Amino acid sequence: MRYLLGIDIGTSGTKTVLFDEKLCEISSATAEYPLYQPQNGRAEQDPEDWYNAVISTVGTVIKKAGINSADIAGIGLSGQMHGLVMLDEENRVLRPSIIWCDQRTEKECIQLTELVGAERLVEITANPALTGFTASKILWVKNNEPEIFKKCRHILLPKDYIRFRLTGEFAADVSDASGMQLLDVPNRRWSGEILDKLEIETNMLGSICESVEITGRITADTAALTGLAEGTPVVGGAGDNAAAAVGTGIVKEGSAFTTIGTSGVVYAHTNSPVIDKRGRVHTFCCAVPGCWHVMGVTQAAGLSLKWFKDNFCKDMTENAYTEINALAETSPTGSNRLIYLPYLMGERTPHLDPDCRGVLFGLSASHTRGDVLRSVMEGVSFSLCDCKDILDEMGIPVNKMTACGGGSTSDVWAKILADCYGCDIRRIGGVQGPALGAAILAGAGTGVFESVEYACEQFIKADNTVAYSPETHEKYKKLHRVYKNLYDSLKNDFRRLSDIML
Ligand code: XUL
Repeated sequence: MRYLLGIDIGTSGTKTVLFDEKLCEISSATAEYPLYQPQNGRAEQDPEDWYNAVISTVGTVIKKAGINSADIAGIGLSGQMHGLVMLDEENRVLRPSIIWCDQRTEKECIQLTELVGAERLVEITANPALTGFTASKILWVKNNEPEIFKKCRHILLPKDYIRFRLTGEFAADVSDASGMQLLDVPNRRWSGEILDKLEIETNMLGSICESVEITGRITADTAALTGLAEGTPVVGGAGDNAAAAVGTGIVKEGSAFTTIGTSGVVYAHTNSPVIDKRGRVHTFCCAVPGCWHVMGVTQAAGLSLKWFKDNFCKDMTENAYTEINALAETSPTGSNRLIYLPYLMGERTPHLDPDCRGVLFGLSASHTRGDVLRSVMEGVSFSLCDCKDILDEMGIPVNKMTACGGGSTSDVWAKILADCYGCDIRRIGGVQGPALGAAILAGAGTGVFESVEYACEQFIKADNTVAYSPETHEKYKKLHRVYKNLYDSLKNDFRRLSDIML
């Protein structure tokens, strides 16, 4: 029996899962780490925390499984996208990683657009300059911490930093690299033009590869620390969304999925790079060689619920999310006329606005904690509807919608989402998403599977469907209209609030 290992370096923690060659889970382990928010709108993590989590979860998974680690045919990495890791010439981390949801780079986005030209930037990178993406973060360090920038020799994404620690190799796969805004997305290679304009040497970036290509092998040091066999191949892997697509079987045109993880994503597979001229959704290479995807992003999806839980549900100790789901179910559709805007970390789709912030609209003395919890789930679902509406507007066919991520395992949240969308949602049982996707990529890259599509067809099956109710959908349509108007009414005040020096 051969095995495959998937490692997903997420925002709240790292999840490592070992599968057999039929993609049945053998063992898994998760380790959490903190997210630092040194200022409103900033978000950083310590790459050493990711590394320690990877080493400990891999070790645990191998020990629990009791297998001969030489039977692991390949390892796939998946990770939170866009984060900036800078290393000096001794390969030491120069500063905490500025991660995907950090919003500090508004000025640098203007600078990037001026340097490259708005149209040319979209032509090459398939996206306008965005605060979440890596290029503007690099410019921010250059502008604000020039002494650090001067020492920088390597620029890596989170999972590619882990690849380097595990194998000693510098490499990036096309799906994750698409979110750096340094890649020529239609041609799937680093863009010499963008790198020249930003004065970044190509050799600061790793070699670029497809997600299924072998990029390196486990070193003797990593083997000693984890119990892995020295020489085990590590494939390119993918950004967490592209990996989740593989793990949920979204590898052909017409299929789409929604993730409710820390961020929320609505993702559709495409056979060509389809671009929204207004840049409201991202166009990236996907993990299936030669294909792309379009996705809209809600910055604070699970993050909204976690924020509420951490601050206002401190009395719920064990199984807090079970209690939260039960409380949300006590509130009716529309949360007794309470509407939540999930803009805790600014918003990408559809507003591209780093200054907007969260809102609870319609609060009255009669509202309960259950109402607020339900309104958080509904507000995130409205934001995901905004993403889906844009895919519809762009004419991207979505024949079936699958859901994954922690939030989708909540029955009440999955039902709210189906009712908001007005379509049934398939859920995939067992381990879903990025870790499974990463393992499939490892299988396709090491000959265990003949292709990514073949493995998905054989082994990924939906095990339950959440049906939508047309009647509830009509109610949500009305509420969604108010939700949309709220942003328009508040847009200028968000800006005014962020401009106040306190
Ligand atoms: C996608 C994005 C997030 C992160 C975190 O563009 O920023 O989904 O990948 O998971």
